[in-house]
Amino acid sequence: MIDKINELLAEVNEMKARNAEELEALRIKYLSKKGKIPELMNDFRLVPPEMKKEIGIRINELKDLAQKRMAELREQFAVADADHSDLDLTRTAYPVQLGTRHPLTIVKNEIIDIFSRLGFTLADGPEVEDDWHVFSSMNFAEDHPARDMQDTFFVESHPDIILRTHTSSVQSRVMEVQQPPIRVICPGRVYRNEAISYRAHCFFHQVEGLYIDKNVSFTDLKQVLLLFAQEMFGNDTKIRLRPSYFPFTEPSAEMDISCNICGGKGCAFCKGTGWVEILGCGMVDPNVLELNGIDSSIYSGYAFGMGIERITNLKYQVKDLRMFSENDTRFLREFESAN
Ligand code: DAH
Repeated sequence: MIDKINELLAEVNEMKARNAEELEALRIKYLSKKGKIPELMNDFRLVPPEMKKEIGIRINELKDLAQKRMAELREQFAVADADHSDLDLTRTAYPVQLGTRHPLTIVKNEIIDIFSRLGFTLADGPEVEDDWHVFSSMNFAEDHPARDMQDTFFVESHPDIILRTHTSSVQSRVMEVQQPPIRVICPGRVYRNEAISYRAHCFFHQVEGLYIDKNVSFTDLKQVLLLFAQEMFGNDTKIRLRPSYFPFTEPSAEMDISCNICGGKGCAFCKGTGWVEILGCGMVDPNVLELNGIDSSIYSGYAFGMGIERITNLKYQVKDLRMFSENDTRFLREFESAN
């Protein structure tokens, strides 16, 4: 048995293979189930007990050596394979699929672009907010329905921490670190606890605007919004302001633009009225200025807030809000030319 082991040790030491097939043949010859080494192990039970220890050690050595040699030979081929001699450098490249910007990003960038030409800079704040920035600092009464569980997502076990329901929270974030003049727009994602359907989603996007300085008037607001509407929807666009209510503005208004689909004549989209609503706005309530550390006897301001999905729908007539978050590339590719 010892002789047999020595013989095999010599053979294994001499093992050579020129390619993967030869290597595989060696593996079968020595290490497969019916190979020479396992065969030897089978005979091990015939070894007299006093020799079992020594023979056992020798057989294991043989097996280790065989495995080591195989690994060495295999490595040799790997190095040879890696010399890339079969690379065809003249072959044309695979076509690269370019992505497209998301329609909401396209419209958001356009809104930012228009307002930055009017002197507005960007500001942002967290999506996971506290009650103070979303509601209290914005002059919401303690029992205002918007604070209700129906609308607001709360963080379990932290009733004070919520997902912001509007970007108006960034108004407060800005005012706490900056004194007027303030002229910012704040794009961002907001969350509301709504059942998802073609016209509502549990998250969507808004752009908030805030301008605070001495002698800011409603006329300034109206002028800026008219400019915005005409830049966004075309020079013929008309605007109208309807009185409304928001806790953080006084007076408050909602702004409609002449329907850009029928040109104001009346169609299914504007329900025959010729007008479509696009944003909420107003003069910043003096309470909001005071709550956020700005002297309302010196400063006044205006604010506005719009939904990016709404503006995008108007521009591109997307009928189902869910399309914006489903990542269907057939839908996204439709905006290729707008990029
Ligand atoms: N925060 C309001 C909303 O989510 C939108 C809004 C209305 C923002 C009037 C404003 C504003 O800044 O002045 O519906």
